[in-house]
Amino acid sequence: MKLLSSVLFCLMSCVLALAANSALSSQELTSRQKHIITIAAYTGRGDLHQLQPALNAALDSGLTINEIREVLVHSYAYCGFPRSLRGLQAFISVLDKRKSRGIADAPGQDACPTKDKRSRYDRGCAILAEISGIPVNAPKVAYAEFAPVMERFLKEHLFADIFERDVLTYDERELATVSILAAIGGVEPMARSHMGICLNLGITPAQLHQLLDIVSRNIGPGEADAVRKELNTLLQAKGLPVVRRTGQDAGKPLVVYFSATGNTKAVAEQIAKLTGADLYRIEAAEAYNADPYRDSDRVKKEAYENLRPKVANLPEASLMAKYDTIFVGSPIWWHQPAMVICTFLEAFDLKGKTLIPFFTYDATTYLNESMQQIYRLTPHSRHIPSTLPEDLDPGDITTPGRADDEGIDMPGNAAGVKTWLKRIGMLP
Ligand SMILES: Cc1cc2nc3c(=O)[nH]c(=O)nc-3n(C[C@H](O)[C@H](O)[C@H](O)COP(=O)(O)O)c2cc1C
Repeated sequence: MKLLSSVLFCLMSCVLALAANSALSSQELTSRQKHIITIAAYTGRGDLHQLQPALNAALDSGLTINEIREVLVHSYAYCGFPRSLRGLQAFISVLDKRKSRGIADAPGQDACPTKDKRSRYDRGCAILAEISGIPVNAPKVAYAEFAPVMERFLKEHLFADIFERDVLTYDERELATVSILAAIGGVEPMARSHMGICLNLGITPAQLHQLLDIVSRNIGPGEADAVRKELNTLLQAKGLPVVRRTGQDAGKPLVVYFSATGNTKAVAEQIAKLTGADLYRIEAAEAYNADPYRDSDRVKKEAYENLRPKVANLPEASLMAKYDTIFVGSPIWWHQPAMVICTFLEAFDLKGKTLIPFFTYDATTYLNESMQQIYRLTPHSRHIPSTLPEDLDPGDITTPGRADDEGIDMPGNAAGVKTWLKRIGMLP
């Protein structure tokens, strides 16, 4: 009976691993992969403050205790015991707090024991050959000639003892590895060879760029950029198209905003200052009165009738294509974004880009409706936050309706930008 259940479990693990692999054939990282990448990045960096919410989010999304623990255990091979142990301590504390709040997290399955009777060294060699596509008998690299004991440790311990543990798939282990290496920095050649393994496993260049977007948001654009350059060199060497630019601008966000009386401008400028983003101020083709309250009827008509006032300074599409992350700022004007913002958003292909809307306002009512409008106009973009509270009176922007703004996080004013950027994960 025991034998039967362990055979069944191993079969199930294979099915799950195959399912995970088929998800990889699409261009989007799965939510599970994103959680693994985020946890790995914070663990590699040793940022326990950010790691705790990331661990909570992963548990909330359905990763089991054993799966998350395995990411932290796996990490030690790349960022060392101290960081991995700190990560495990943070995880214990997160689990204790959740337990005291009555949350029963699923333990998940432990690793199946291996049935392979070969030596650990031979098993490690075979796994490395499988994931890298480099034959076992390929000439040894310099470090292996110079320090054979290191080569043995790597094969026996890393690629046999650790990689054989089927709690995570090879793909998941490699995504975690690239994330850790990007977060610790200064190990670009290793990041490059692990990205080579990722490509060999069927992870796409676009997925690797998404991984680096996560590193850019959570650790910093500089760390992500250093590895992105390696990725593009690797893709060029393999004759694959380089899907994103290299250089200092890679990962740099853009702040696009409209502002009549300067409040949104002050917030936009502070975001740019703190994130290193470029700024782009949108002007209406038909300028508003210097005191926009004198144009209240016009603004109200534009909002209530969902009009699209022309933009005076639409940039070239090639300029917008340069940016992966775009902050979009506006005052709330008659319960909606200033409608020139909507004209602007509809003028570009923002598919796959990450949009971060922010508003300034005098009263928070209609913040949800204003956010909903931006999300509606950009259905193929990613958004921060990824979801909004339910719009309790959809379609009604003229009467106050029920309160549904709570939980939408805004900077408020320039002084609130730094903590807001941290809360939404745009600053470490
Ligand atoms: C015509 C007009 C309509 C406005 N409508 C709203 C509104 O519906 N809700 C709100 O909270 N604030 C409203 N405000 C206030 C602005 O959103 C607020 O002052 C904002 O910070 C101005 O940003 P700016 O200085 O960047 O132009 C309105 C302001 C004007 C001029």
